[in-house]
Amino acid sequence: MKIMMKVISLQLIVLVCLSFGQADDSIKQHQADDPNGNLGSSSLSDVSQLSAMSSAVNVAFSAALRPPSQDSEGYGHIGPFTAATNLVHKHVITNIGNAYSSSTGSFTAPVNGVYFFTFTSYSWAKTVNIGVALYKNHEEVALVYEHQDKGDNEDFASSGITLKLVKGDKVYLVLPSGFMVTANAYRNVSTFSGFLIFQM
Ligand SMILES: *[C@@H]1O[C@H](CO)[C@@H](O)[C@H](O)[C@H]1NC(C)=O
Repeated sequence: MKIMMKVISLQLIVLVCLSFGQADDSIKQHQADDPNGNLGSSSLSDVSQLSAMSSAVNVAFSAALRPPSQDSEGYGHIGPFTAATNLVHKHVITNIGNAYSSSTGSFTAPVNGVYFFTFTSYSWAKTVNIGVALYKNHEEVALVYEHQDKGDNEDFASSGITLKLVKGDKVYLVLPSGFMVTANAYRNVSTFSGFLIFQM
């Protein structure tokens, strides 16, 4: 009986020692993951790298079309022309990063990334095609239009598009041949806007 008790307590002591040894090993294993023993330091530097990347480039613009000549309320037409014509939105409302040029009407991508553009065209005319097209380099990628009939002579048309661009790509609005658009000298009725969503 006494011998049995001694064997059991000896076994218990061995078991306890074994489990302590295991606990010790697992702590050492964990510390070996990080050579400096600073748990969590790598994820902190990832976060600061990410925020440095996202704050590197800020790009956002909005511009409005102005008429070449105006009536007493400030309205004036552009077109129709026999050939497709670049529309230059001369009145800059916002131009963070200066990627939009109010002299050429073109947005030039300053970095590779995904961008969003939106455009609205106003018209006040009868029996004419109205609308505008958005081009990426030399390719049309979006169009809004309508044939204005006799009875209906005031309209807005609008569209938006997400584009993956490489640095140097140009995005601009074009008045298709035979189309007409109306601008106002004071009110921002025909507009072109865009911004960088993220770099890639
Ligand atoms: C047109 O945009 C300018 C900002 O560039 C603003 O000050 C002005 O009030 C706008 N005009 C109208 C009539 O909304």
